[in-house]
Amino acid sequence: MLPTIAREDDVVVMIDQRKLPAAEVYVRCRTVVEVARAIKTMVIRGAPAIGVAAAMGIAIGMRRSKATGTQKFAAEFHKTCELMAATRPTAVNLFWAIERMKRAFAAAAEAGASVDQIKERLDLEATNIHDEDVASCRAMGAFGAAVVPAEARILTHCNAGALATAGYGTALGVIRGAVEQGKRVTVFADETRPFLQGARLTAWELVRDGIQTTVITDSMAGALMRQGLIDMVVVGADRIAANGDTANKIGTYSVAVLAREHGIPFYVAAPMSTIDLKTTDGQDIPIEERSAREVTHLGGRRLTPVGALIRNPAFDVTPHPLIAGIITERGIFRPPYVESLRLGFESEVVVRA
Ligand code: MRU
Repeated sequence: MLPTIAREDDVVVMIDQRKLPAAEVYVRCRTVVEVARAIKTMVIRGAPAIGVAAAMGIAIGMRRSKATGTQKFAAEFHKTCELMAATRPTAVNLFWAIERMKRAFAAAAEAGASVDQIKERLDLEATNIHDEDVASCRAMGAFGAAVVPAEARILTHCNAGALATAGYGTALGVIRGAVEQGKRVTVFADETRPFLQGARLTAWELVRDGIQTTVITDSMAGALMRQGLIDMVVVGADRIAANGDTANKIGTYSVAVLAREHGIPFYVAAPMSTIDLKTTDGQDIPIEERSAREVTHLGGRRLTPVGALIRNPAFDVTPHPLIAGIITERGIFRPPYVESLRLGFESEVVVRA
């Protein structure tokens, strides 16, 4: 499986996603500040992977703490969590992972654990978050494969693959699941301006897996749909509100509108950790605005004239009526999402296609 992120003692190792596909370079983060910087600068990206990185970052950060008493250790822990929370605002998996680390800390402290024992507990929680993410992706892949036709031309946007998770992927997990079930799948990958996650990362992953992949520029999707060349759309998510409104990479909303216009089912694949019932609807999802340079420059070369104003919102929100189903490790949720998502957290029942 693709080595997105791993722990080697007190070092977090990540494949540098900014350099792919030209070079396979691994970044070794020795401190929590280095992990936070890696998230911010997109060495590692994708909602679930960001959550895993944050948990591992907190774990190695606390391992290095010299505090001997639990009070000082707790103060350092909260500062470390704040540092992580300030990296990227949209992917709720980041805050979900930090919350899990806080709960693990609190449970250990309340049980009277020593500083060293709390460190062990934090290590374990980070490992669990990593391992559970891989298992979730595999489960959602199996559920999602059920809605993929026996022969399917699937459009995806951004990279919701092994690189965006601890492994296997969400949207690409569904595609991998379908291929493993013997379905004949061909993928159209939107290039995904400005960071080119589709052209660089999705295409790299799928080509490595031997899954036929065609890269298109974002503006080509509508024409392909009109020609009848797309059977379904599957994308990932950074945050899903209680009513099903879904934040994902900028451009996803346009794809969803086009899919609706052409009668093509539009699916979102994401782990339960991406569902944020505390956010009522998409309007309340914070959208990250990234540096103008990502738009003005490509490969170090300026594309736009000096003086032109630039916008770079990194995500948009797809309203829930455009979404045919939300594929998770618990099954596929269908509209009305305000009920199905709530029930998904309350019951142990797995929802089938
Ligand atoms: O800015 P990025 O590359 O972190 O954005 C990633 C996406 O929008 C993905 O589609 C999303 O996080 C789902 S990843 C399984």
